[in-house]
Amino acid sequence: MLKNLPQIALFLGACAVTYVSSDAQPAAAAQPFHVMCYYDERAGIDRGNDQGKVTPKNLLSGAQAEYCTHLIYGFAIVGNDSKSIQVRSAKSEELYKDLAALKAKGIKTLIALGGAEDSKKFEKYVKLVTNVDNRKAFVESVVAFLSKHKFDGLLLQWEYPVCRDGSDCTKGSVDERTGYGELMKQLSEALKPKSFLLAAGISPKIDVIDKAYNVQVLTKYLDFVLVEGYKYNQGYSKVFETQFYNVNTTTEPSVVNTIMQLHTKGVPLKKQVLGISLAGNSYVLAAADKHGYGVAATGPGAAAEFTKLPGVMGYFEICNNVVNKGWKVVHERKNTVKLNPYAFKGNQLVTYEDTTDLLRKGKFIKDQKMLGAAVWSADLDDIRNICKCGNFPMLRALNQELRGETVVPGKKMWENCA
Ligand SMILES: *[C@@H]1O[C@H](CO)[C@@H](O)[C@H](O)[C@H]1NC(C)=O
Ligand SMILES: *[C@@H]1O[C@H](CO)[C@@H](O)[C@H](O)[C@H]1NC(C)=O
Repeated sequence: MLKNLPQIALFLGACAVTYVSSDAQPAAAAQPFHVMCYYDERAGIDRGNDQGKVTPKNLLSGAQAEYCTHLIYGFAIVGNDSKSIQVRSAKSEELYKDLAALKAKGIKTLIALGGAEDSKKFEKYVKLVTNVDNRKAFVESVVAFLSKHKFDGLLLQWEYPVCRDGSDCTKGSVDERTGYGELMKQLSEALKPKSFLLAAGISPKIDVIDKAYNVQVLTKYLDFVLVEGYKYNQGYSKVFETQFYNVNTTTEPSVVNTIMQLHTKGVPLKKQVLGISLAGNSYVLAAADKHGYGVAATGPGAAAEFTKLPGVMGYFEICNNVVNKGWKVVHERKNTVKLNPYAFKGNQLVTYEDTTDLLRKGKFIKDQKMLGAAVWSADLDDIRNICKCGNFPMLRALNQELRGETVVPGKKMWENCA
């Protein structure tokens, strides 16, 4: 059945309604699924000293640590010499020290290299992966870095080889794809004997996957492949929805389609981790009275109160806007398929996922026996209960679905969350 993609997509699409509400499955036995939490260090370093400030300590103290099986720390960067992994900020190392307490609880910690911001300086990545001496020096630098800062592993997140910004695949050379594969092989040979984990975050767009990666290399050398299932970036000229199921199987990208196609291309489902975003995409509407998916927008939405970046809004800011600031939520359907909600006020609109959407994704991960979910980023959950739905509503929902009742004892408090 997995071989027939349109069929499975249609099947899932048609069953979406009952699929979501079905609660009949018993809790999965003995924690087979991972819930990985990214931590975005900008939350601890670059944001103000207010409700938006989150250090790893705030994020994962006490019982809250149980919501994450892995912590993926974002981001370290490639040095200007193209031979080394380096801290992003002079304050990074101070925050790394917080991670010892997590390790003591059995949480695996990985340092993520790259991310959207550093990947804009793509020349240094190209020089790293296409030069044999640079790769060799870089691998040594990684081993030293992981040992010094006591990380359990490395997650590579260059966005993306060959395809600049995940959209333009005409400027990069195929050497980048080959070199990135070589780098993975060399890293694996150095890290495996020392029991370090090696993984990569990859684009969810099939055309980018085909150009940027050698799928056999991903499968052979990585412990897992994290599919950034929210980066189908389409700009800000109209309101875009990241579809979960294919509404139109032949023409529209969707998360289910990506996962199944990757599987067909040779990445086993049990090596795949589905990346889920707790950041909504925000827009300025072309006309304040015309809101909805597909309507015209004039650009990224205004920078939000705490995260302060145009075009994105953390879940805790979205629910705060809805609960306390008069933003209106709309739940649309296309045919029988539930779309992600959006919220708007005046000419500002934000698309996002709520706890119901996370439960739906958790169920999919479970049914397909994937490795688990990764949340970008845990610091964007409502960690301080400013929306009065309990702390960490999003992470609790995912844990409920993927790790069973032991983590979240019976309380489905997230059911009425924004
Ligand atoms: C690396 O180069 C950038 C300019 O591309 C510069 O802003 C930055 O300070 C350099 N970093 C170091 C550590 O020299
Ligand atoms: C699906 O895509 C095809 C080809 O672009 C188009 O003709 C058709 O109307 C679309 N169907 C839906 C339901 O959007």
